[in-house]
Amino acid sequence: MQKYFRHPLPLPSHLAKGHWLLSDCQCIKSERSHERLKREKLLTSTRSDALPLGLREHSFNNFKVSELNREAYETCQAFMRNFAKVQQGEGLLLLGRSGTGKTHLASSIANGLKDKHTVAFAYVPILLEKMRTSNVNLDELLSADLLILDDIGSERETGWTMERMLIIVDGRLTNLKPTVFTTNYDLNDLDKRLGMRVASRILGHNLAVVLKGLDYRLNRQRGKNPN
Ligand SMILES: Nc1ncnc2c1ncn2[C@@H]1O[C@H](COP(=O)(O)OP(=O)(O)OP(=O)(O)O)[C@@H](O)[C@H]1O
Ligand SMILES: [Mg+2]
Repeated sequence: MQKYFRHPLPLPSHLAKGHWLLSDCQCIKSERSHERLKREKLLTSTRSDALPLGLREHSFNNFKVSELNREAYETCQAFMRNFAKVQQGEGLLLLGRSGTGKTHLASSIANGLKDKHTVAFAYVPILLEKMRTSNVNLDELLSADLLILDDIGSERETGWTMERMLIIVDGRLTNLKPTVFTTNYDLNDLDKRLGMRVASRILGHNLAVVLKGLDYRLNRQRGKNPN
């Protein structure tokens, strides 16, 4: 049986928007492998050039500020500016719906600090996958001056994943190293997704900042002003 699904890329002009294509379309295949490679690079080392390629351009300068995200923007910028003074394990928890700019702001902080500090970035579902299948340099994650844990809670939740997260979150606190977390989940749902022990540590040691607004990705694609 052949499967059809909506084409995710801009279509050649002879095809109508929303045209449904076969799943073995060549450009979809190559886009998929490109996306996979990009994802695999998301767990980075702490070298200064090591932020994932797709996130290296993110900065406070190319973040569009509106009334809906101003508070989050300013909090993240202040965190970056005061980083040298406040390295006591106190970090940020960026919450909000998809496409509101959480990863953009977290990587802006990382990009702003990476020349003077060791910064590690991990997309949590990939990090956990790597921990399951290969050796991950835990020391590097626990000792980096700043660690970004992107998309916590979106991983498949099992006792094993919760335990791994606890090792990382607790290890960071023990080393007095701050972490910036991003998540799609509400504050109230974090303990269900991550377990009480991880959620308690994250909520107790990080400033929670909510990003409001529309999905920037979708609205940009539709040519609308996202904010
Ligand atoms: N205020 C903004 N100004 C400029 N670009 C933005 C803004 N908000 C989001 N973007 C862009 O929109 C895209 C999606 O943003 P981002 O990845 O930060 O969203 P997210 O909140 O992390 O979403 P998700 O929860 O799905 O991971 C990125 O390309 C980002 O650079
Ligand atoms: Mg994100």
